[in-house]
Amino acid sequence: MEHYKLFIDGEFVEAASGDVFETIDPGTGLPFATVAKAGKADAEAAIAAARRSFDSGVWSNLSPVARADKVYDFADQVAQLTLQLAITESQDAGHVIKLSKFWGMLGSGMLRNLGYYASREFPWQEEIPYSGNVFAPAREWIRREPIGVCVGIVPWNFPASMAFWKIGLAIIMGNSIVLKPATSTPLTALIIAEAAKAAGIPKGVINVLPGPGGELGNILCTHPDVDKIAITGSTEVGREIMKMASDSVKKVTLELGGKSANIILDDADIDLAVNGACFGTFFHQGQVCESGTRVLVPAKIYDEFVEKMKKRAEEIRVGYQLFPTSHMGPLANAAQLATIEHYVKLGQEEGAKLITGGKRITMDGFEDGYYYPPTIFANVKNSMRIAQEEIFGPVVCVIKYDGDEEAVAIANDSIYGLGGGVFSRSNTRAVRVAEKIRTGTVWINNYHIFADFCPFGGYKQSGVGRELGAAGLAEYTQVKRIHVNSFASVESNFTMTCLSDETKVALVQYNCPTNVISGHGTISAIYKEVVNLGCKRALILTDPGVKKAGLAQKVQDALVEFCVGIFDDIAQDTDLEIVDAAVAMARELKADCIVSVGGGSVIDTAKAVCVTLKNGGKCNDHIALNRLQTPQTPHIVIPTTSGTGSEVTNVAVIKSKQAGRKVFLVDPRVIPNTAILDPQFTMTLPPGLTVTTAMDAMTHAVEALTSILAQPICDGQALQAIRLINDNLPKVIANPKDETARNKLQIAATMAGWAFTIAQVGLAHGMAHTLGILYNVPHGAACGIVLPAVMRYNIDFAADKLTSVAQAMGVNTAGMDEKAAAGAAADAIEKLMKEAGHPMRLRDVKVPEDGLDMAAIHAICDTATLFNARPVSDPGEVAELYKSVY
Ligand SMILES: NC(=O)c1ccc[n+]([C@@H]2O[C@H](COP(=O)([O-])OP(=O)(O)OC[C@H]3O[C@@H](n4cnc5c(N)ncnc54)[C@H](O)[C@@H]3O)[C@@H](O)[C@H]2O)c1
Repeated sequence: MEHYKLFIDGEFVEAASGDVFETIDPGTGLPFATVAKAGKADAEAAIAAARRSFDSGVWSNLSPVARADKVYDFADQVAQLTLQLAITESQDAGHVIKLSKFWGMLGSGMLRNLGYYASREFPWQEEIPYSGNVFAPAREWIRREPIGVCVGIVPWNFPASMAFWKIGLAIIMGNSIVLKPATSTPLTALIIAEAAKAAGIPKGVINVLPGPGGELGNILCTHPDVDKIAITGSTEVGREIMKMASDSVKKVTLELGGKSANIILDDADIDLAVNGACFGTFFHQGQVCESGTRVLVPAKIYDEFVEKMKKRAEEIRVGYQLFPTSHMGPLANAAQLATIEHYVKLGQEEGAKLITGGKRITMDGFEDGYYYPPTIFANVKNSMRIAQEEIFGPVVCVIKYDGDEEAVAIANDSIYGLGGGVFSRSNTRAVRVAEKIRTGTVWINNYHIFADFCPFGGYKQSGVGRELGAAGLAEYTQVKRIHVNSFASVESNFTMTCLSDETKVALVQYNCPTNVISGHGTISAIYKEVVNLGCKRALILTDPGVKKAGLAQKVQDALVEFCVGIFDDIAQDTDLEIVDAAVAMARELKADCIVSVGGGSVIDTAKAVCVTLKNGGKCNDHIALNRLQTPQTPHIVIPTTSGTGSEVTNVAVIKSKQAGRKVFLVDPRVIPNTAILDPQFTMTLPPGLTVTTAMDAMTHAVEALTSILAQPICDGQALQAIRLINDNLPKVIANPKDETARNKLQIAATMAGWAFTIAQVGLAHGMAHTLGILYNVPHGAACGIVLPAVMRYNIDFAADKLTSVAQAMGVNTAGMDEKAAAGAAADAIEKLMKEAGHPMRLRDVKVPEDGLDMAAIHAICDTATLFNARPVSDPGEVAELYKSVY
């Protein structure tokens, strides 16, 4: 008899104990080879060798391409051993030679396919371009690394194929492995090890340990040096292994049992379905975990189907596995024969009708072989044990059903979910059924087809994880995230400040790409701007007030044939539905750029339209922070208020009725391409709106200046904006036709927009957003009313900055101490507002007094509040502020 040895650390060796066992040919029932029997010492040695090889990096640190080269050599060696693998698998595991002759070719092909994929396509390293964290800009990436030492435990039904999967996937991904073949079928895994040795896979990377399952399994699954266990086996064994692995929390991949349903729909090609049902069950003597052992047949064709299935099953030739004429060989071992006999008896006791088979075959010349014929049970109820428990042999249950829904319900009434089939002449109908079955694989008009790139694994108690395909390879890796701080100093770190009282962050990232064109008559530049942006089909977005003032028409005239339409349905304080309606119109008109003409409501709608138009779907899909990857639909803005600054900012503020609040689309990619500040477009703005929108700009400037992110670039913009508003707002109020002053207010709004897009705002904005959403207070009016109170609240934290506000407002601060000067800034703002006719109290804008406490709670959670000079976390303080201006 030929003798096989263990494979440890690159060498074929005898067991440390010297023990040997015999392996039996199930077709003859006689021993045909001896094998070294691994014990504890051998398991320890194999794990140590695997650990050494992994930790040394001799394999794990190779580049995926270098590893793939070696895997190809391995595949070539396997191909050379195809015949040896075939004959040995047949003798050791009872595979008919018709089948086993393919294992070498398939194994070698799998190594090449997945080896190539792992080296060229697998995402070993993935940049995460947007992290979703706005506070800590960083380069973020994912690196996939091998897990370490893997244990592979394989069953006796497909010893070579399962060894290829376990060894192949593990080593392709850079791991080392200790493989334990099934006790009764140890040989082909050792031949595969021979191929690996001949290919020069470094020693220790692959180790093969034939021996007793329980004893070796316990050592391998509990050893501290083992990082992952991948097992194919019964659900019972899988449960045990999961328990053992849990002590040291090892990763597991479990491919376990099944009791899959093969659903024959009433429109199936009956001959194809009968063949599919027999192939799905009797292939390899039914010793296949994903076999379709519950054939579900509609009542109206049931009798005919069972009859045809019987005829087909009886045509299947059972014989010695190395005879080329045999369709089915013996069962793999004596224990399995006993199990089948037990279940067939049980089926009869349960009341199922035995249609064919059901009795062991004794073959002339092979009297001790474990032969069993195809066996069919009809009139099976799904609740019977033969329909619920895995038999793992050539025994099929044919179950009657009425209607597709019942078929799905029966299919799903199982603790398993591994495979399954649907036979139908309608692919659409079959797919609908397939989608409803809770199982890992469904074949339509076929069965048992595996493919290297298609993942295999189970739902429910059929397993955990997947093998083959990208999903299977990923199971053999760890995921590591690496974060590299883009602004690596204590002063620039926004998040670390939560542990200190120093809230200021010294971080400058200036990103203000808008092309700003300002001055009387600059609207005529729009024609050229559209061309510069590479566009031809501009959709104008505006609101009814702006349209009524004739401003949309002016823009349309300037655009001439580039204007494809006007959307004028924008309400004050845009909501998501308005954005979607505008997008629908833009899509219909095939608009390639957006021109917004209006105040913040229109501009913000337009920003969201640009993003939704570019990326598809609805506006709500795109409410996010810093997620956009590419330039958005080009956007030209013509502001008509004095105003929001939105023409240069990175934010669109949209109302979400569903969320009951304002939501923010914040991203540098929403910053408009061009802003045309032509004062002709603000001449029609009534005094009330002139002052409230100017106070919005003033609030941006003051809050950017005092924000914890403030820095000199923004300080300059903010201070100049404050000066311009202080000087020009009174002039515009006194003479609404003063175009120069109007233009300067526009410029102030833009400068304040730049300042706050970089430095952010603060508590006044948080309070104003809340009043807008809860009580519909126009944003500018709300900002103005609360601003002086918030400035006073911030005095201890921003006295220097507030002093510079006072000076920009024309206050002579000479002789004042810093706090007095800071207070004077708030007084000066109040004076300006009063003179310009701005509402001064919340009661003036119809805020209910009993709503202030609630508003305070909302305000402290508003994002803007995070950047306030003085940390805000007490809603009581904010409520006091609201009350002070009620
Ligand atoms: N994205 C940003 O950077 C940003 C900044 C601040 C505010 N906002 C948002 O902007 C919105 C407020 O914008 P707004 O204050 O500019 O007001 P708005 O756009 O809501 O317009 C207010 C009213 O003024 C009318 N109007 C505008 N221009 C006119 C003109 N020239 N002649 C006659 N009527 C005219 C409009 O018809 C409208 O009825 C709020 O939703 C706020 O959240 C956005």
